[in-house]
Amino acid sequence: MEKILVIGAGGQIGVELTLALRAKYGQDNVIASDIREPHVLLADSGPYVQLDVMNSNAVSLLVQKEKVTQIYLLAAILSATGEKNPLWAWDINMKSLMNILDICVEQKVSKLYWPSSIAVFGNTTPKENTEQKTIIEPVTVYGISKYAGELWCQYYFDKYGLDVRSLRYPGLISWKSAPGGGTTDYAIDIYIEALKKQSYECFLSEHTYLPMMYMDDAIRATIELMEAPKESIKNRMSYNLSGMSFSPKEISEAIQKHIPGFTISYAPDFRQKIADSWPKSIEDKEAEKDWGWKAEYDLEKMTAAMLENLKTVKRM
Ligand code: NAD
Ligand code: SER
Repeated sequence: MEKILVIGAGGQIGVELTLALRAKYGQDNVIASDIREPHVLLADSGPYVQLDVMNSNAVSLLVQKEKVTQIYLLAAILSATGEKNPLWAWDINMKSLMNILDICVEQKVSKLYWPSSIAVFGNTTPKENTEQKTIIEPVTVYGISKYAGELWCQYYFDKYGLDVRSLRYPGLISWKSAPGGGTTDYAIDIYIEALKKQSYECFLSEHTYLPMMYMDDAIRATIELMEAPKESIKNRMSYNLSGMSFSPKEISEAIQKHIPGFTISYAPDFRQKIADSWPKSIEDKEAEKDWGWKAEYDLEKMTAAMLENLKTVKRM
């Protein structure tokens, strides 16, 4: 029987991933943990432990006590927040990963999931349909920490045989829990403001294309990757993962089909430089070939789902 620990479970991905894992593996078999108080959707749906991932001893004791067999490490400082305090972001992102890699080896945890990001790519990377293996020279502290982390995952697989798996998520768009300080967060805020005020001021410029994905696809990809047979996983750094690509202008036009009076204006800030360093679109042939990945949501389908779901939240 699997016993799963999700670290950073109170965040944008963690809440939905924990709920999906609980539905699949049984609620008592998925322990949610975060440095914060439990998120409202997690509090009554299974075990919750408030802890700091930087406290290696506390995590190690929990893993031992609960006989944890799989860890999903989601705690991290994202791109925009990271640029405000680079050394702190580096410390959290790297130390959390090194702590968990070591605990997995020491306690014989059978599988580790740790996400990377499109932020590993930088200004020198080809922008369109960016390939898995290409020029990788990240410019943000977040991107540098993700690329270093990918190399450490590969190292622990090679040296200790740790079954570590990873995805380079695009910008993730969701409605159940708030995003945590990324450059792609505009594509969530825009839906919320469209419903609230029928207008939105975007912190990226009109034609800034970025790779994006609806959360349902991202959760499915994560679980499919983790459940794939070990021999199918040929990449022990991190797989490119592609959903869709659009600009602020295009997402606003998709919203206007549902809310005709919606308007958008543009006031790019420091996040523009981060977005400009990332690819416009990426390809994910290796994920498709190795474990059968295929995204289901495009911009139209996601827009309909986001607006419908956010209306439900407003009524609650
Ligand atoms: P988030 O900021 O929403 O959530 C991170 C969670 O980690 C938060 O709940 C936070 O309280 C927790 N946390 C922070 N420091 C902690 C600590 N010291 N101990 C324990 N918990 C701590 O982030 P997210 O969007 O859910 O991202 C999860 C992972 O996915 C991160 O590694 C992120 O880099 C990666 N990722 C996210 C996206 C995206 O668009 N959301 C894209 C690419 C990669
Ligand atoms: N969505 C994330 C960010 O913008 C990408 O990793 O930071």
